[in-house]
Amino acid sequence: MSIKLENLFASPVTFIDNLAILQNSSEHPNQEQTNDSFSEKWVKLDNESSTEVGEVFQKEWVLDLYGFKTLQGLQDFLKDKKVIIDAGCGLGYKSAWLAENAPNSIVFGIDYSDAINVAARRYKQIPNLYFFRGDIANLPFKKGSVDFVLCDQVIHHTENPEKTFEHLSSLLSATGKFACYVYAKKALPRELLDDYFRKATHTISHEEMWAFSSQLTELGKTLSQLNVKFTSPDIPVLGIKGGEYDIQRFIYWNFLKCFWNEKFTPQINDATNFDWYSPSNAERYSPEEFKAWANKLKLNIDFFRSEEACHTMIVSK
Ligand SMILES: C[S@@+](CC[C@H](N)C(=O)[O-])C[C@H]1O[C@@H](n2cnc3c(N)ncnc32)[C@H](O)[C@@H]1O
Repeated sequence: MSIKLENLFASPVTFIDNLAILQNSSEHPNQEQTNDSFSEKWVKLDNESSTEVGEVFQKEWVLDLYGFKTLQGLQDFLKDKKVIIDAGCGLGYKSAWLAENAPNSIVFGIDYSDAINVAARRYKQIPNLYFFRGDIANLPFKKGSVDFVLCDQVIHHTENPEKTFEHLSSLLSATGKFACYVYAKKALPRELLDDYFRKATHTISHEEMWAFSSQLTELGKTLSQLNVKFTSPDIPVLGIKGGEYDIQRFIYWNFLKCFWNEKFTPQINDATNFDWYSPSNAERYSPEEFKAWANKLKLNIDFFRSEEACHTMIVSK
């Protein structure tokens, strides 16, 4: 490989095999609680369930979310991206996917939680893939040294999302691209309930939180299986959009996250509900608020997409 690892970093980084520990814990209580919550989620999932179905679903979603459309589209995009980071990689399956689809590049998966140990173990056979444990808001790369940053479903969990965005943007090379995802703001009752539960759940144990998560899965499943559709009026004061809804989707988008997908294992369904109400840091944004981050830094917005759950954009210098 022509890229020399040590040339990429502004300060020395020590690897043991494919893993370097930059920082184990955060001085910010909310970030620390967020790390703890994801450590609990990922390690339990790794021990108790196959994560494969969820991973296949997630990779296909990435192709849609950032406009790559097909795997070939992603491969073409990655061709000239020599240094790639997967910021907030969780179990590392997207880092591994990027490394496999950009075999001449070097990929770094970074996460603050215990998931990084699972990722480093799972993917140690991939030669162009390394992992860091640390804060994506404070990485040791030289400014301008990174050709592609993927920060998928992560930045809203960091202590100061806009600052994290600024830091990751500063690492971009002159032709670099940064693909980023944020949670979308939803209807008012759902936002109020989400805020309430995110605080309330911090006073309960992980066991109680898992029990709550499987109750939400059960509710989602029961409502979905009713298979009831109806037409709701527009209720602008509450941010509820009118139209035809399935009853589960209506409650899900407007009142309470009660996720259920019949293709997923019960554990992946529960983990999806767990990671909504458990981490302290989980900001939501309007499209305008998200675009304003890029505009403030005078970045080009090369791609923007909104859906009910999220907004995604690709920016460049
Ligand atoms: C919802 S998961 C997404 C994981 C992965 N990107 C995926 O799409 O499967 C969010 C991840 O962000 C990580 N995270 C949150 N704040 C972080 C930070 N400041 N630095 C690094 N990782 C962070 C969490 O530990 C968690 O693994």
